[in-house]
Amino acid sequence: MAAFITFEGGEGVGKSTQAQALADRLTRQGYKTLVTREPGGTPFGEAMRSALLAHADLETLTERLVFAAARHEHVERVISPALQAGMVVICDRFIDSTRVYQGHDPADAFARTLEARSIAGHLPDLTLILDLPVDLALARVAARGAMNRFDANAQATHEARRTAFLGLASAEPERCHVLDAAQTSTAVSEAVWALVSALLVAKSSGSPQVNPQSPEDDLF
Ligand code: TYD
Repeated sequence: MAAFITFEGGEGVGKSTQAQALADRLTRQGYKTLVTREPGGTPFGEAMRSALLAHADLETLTERLVFAAARHEHVERVISPALQAGMVVICDRFIDSTRVYQGHDPADAFARTLEARSIAGHLPDLTLILDLPVDLALARVAARGAMNRFDANAQATHEARRTAFLGLASAEPERCHVLDAAQTSTAVSEAVWALVSALLVAKSSGSPQVNPQSPEDDLF
């Protein structure tokens, strides 16, 4: 059954680990899954990822345009075909990262149009925002080793991004759910599963409602 799920949040919150854990669980239950990421996901996207991470002095509009270009290729060539093939697509970062890192001004008609054109109608069914106090997140990033240029930003910038992700979640409470990433990885995975299994139940019954109270594994 086709579903589009994104993981979002600041640096070091565990998005990649949770995306893979979710894919493994879905695969064990017989779902066809695809894990992908942004920036990246296509050869062009991976080239743009290298360029974006290597150039620290880009204008915000330049970043917005390049992320959008890479995203459009990703949506048209990877995400949309996978959804049409009935897969559960799990993407590590998507539009909410652009809204947070490049800025979100609802009055910016150009940014809204660019986002809409780049995703070509593929708004995620469910966005899981992993939330972690900045001190903890930065300690995890430091323990991981190599820092990218976004990781290396000032603490106040990371705090502002955390606040911005929480603001996006409250603005779109049906799509976006905030999960406490300070819990154990297993506990976060269970919280993810509660929401994903509810989404899949809702989709299979044709209901648009996501009910996080029905996470029974054996439903699948
Ligand atoms: P990455 O190494 O993937 O970071 P992480 O492991 O934390 O996901 O680096 C990607 C960086 O690109 C990340 O710091 C956030 C940034 N980014 C944007 O600024 N805008 C975007 O639209 C996306 C998708 C990512």
